[in-house]
Amino acid sequence: MSEKTVAILGATGVVGQQMLQCLEERNFPVGRLVPLASERSVGKPVTFRGEDVPCQLAAADAFEGVDIVLGAADDATARALLPEAVKRGAVCVDNSHAFRLEPDVPLVVPEVNAADIAAHHGIIANPNCATIIGLVPVWPLHQAAGLTRLIVSTYQAASGAGKPGLDELVREIRCVAAGEPVGESAPFQYQLAENLIPQIGGFNEEGYTSEEMKMQNEGRKIMHLPELRVNCTCVRVPVVRSHSESITCEFERPISVDEARAILEAAPGVKVVDDPATSRYPMPLETSDQDLIYVGRLRRDLSAPEGVSSLTFWCCGDQIRKGAATNAVQIAEYLV
Ligand SMILES: NC(=O)c1ccc[n+]([C@@H]2O[C@H](COP(=O)([O-])OP(=O)(O)OC[C@H]3O[C@@H](n4cnc5c(N)ncnc54)[C@H](OP(=O)(O)O)[C@@H]3O)[C@@H](O)[C@H]2O)c1
Repeated sequence: MSEKTVAILGATGVVGQQMLQCLEERNFPVGRLVPLASERSVGKPVTFRGEDVPCQLAAADAFEGVDIVLGAADDATARALLPEAVKRGAVCVDNSHAFRLEPDVPLVVPEVNAADIAAHHGIIANPNCATIIGLVPVWPLHQAAGLTRLIVSTYQAASGAGKPGLDELVREIRCVAAGEPVGESAPFQYQLAENLIPQIGGFNEEGYTSEEMKMQNEGRKIMHLPELRVNCTCVRVPVVRSHSESITCEFERPISVDEARAILEAAPGVKVVDDPATSRYPMPLETSDQDLIYVGRLRRDLSAPEGVSSLTFWCCGDQIRKGAATNAVQIAEYLV
């Protein structure tokens, strides 16, 4: 495999830092690394394979000679810079929301729709983290029984809001422990420590947040199910890392709990942790810093109308790894 020049746009952020680690762990053929960030971080070193590599300013000419760009910056930066990288011959795998729903941009979870990668025109989008974590277990059940409806509640970690979110929760926990006032809670709308915030993103006219609509719109695109019915509620929780989701799936065809369990046990990217007798189920502390989506609490939906096949389960996954960096590096592996 020939070595590639790989740029990371946003190399100093939580996703960018995790990308460095994933490239290293997965032995990705990086010949030269180009870490890019804002003016604030120019010259700041990032560590790759035990060596310090200074960050460069993210600007169009920084992409000269780059083969692959892993995007880990905000939407506006991705929109401004990734087309410049494509013009210079690079292929980009982007984590921002900027290009996800564009018709000529594949939106890919490799366990679900790796075949879509081949249709790219220079940019491939990584889905929203909660969408990736939910779809890894939902997809094999869909293949077996035909998904018709998805009802999801998410419990999303503070680090889903990047380094500022991670730092803010740690600060608030310290304040609360010391009995001091928490004060301003940016980037969150309210104090997160000792709290839950049922708002991630802005609201639409129907009362759904942008994060909730991603589950519907991205889920439909990834699974090629344009009519799929999705109802999602997204909640920010005072967990440092790993998103959790309660998911109910309705299917066209009957599927028993035992069949579903067997399918999930064989599914790529999934680990079944489900033993109520010994209180074994997925939890975010256990799923952090690894790449599998843990699934448990698998059970029949007792509220399903007569004749409707419906299952409920709980899953957790590390949203910085599988929900972002690992998924992007997996896509890049298909490119090489
Ligand atoms: N955190 C997650 O769990 C997660 C999961 C899935 C997807 N994502 C998405 O991944 C992207 C990165 O998220 P994150 O959580 O890693 O955010 P973050 O920790 O806030 O990091 C943001 C990165 O973008 C860089 N940046 C900011 N403004 C820039 C500019 N004008 N020009 C160049 N670089 C700039 C920052 O560089 P400086 O250090 O120089 O400011 C930093 O490296 C976002 O689009 C986010 O929505 C995040």
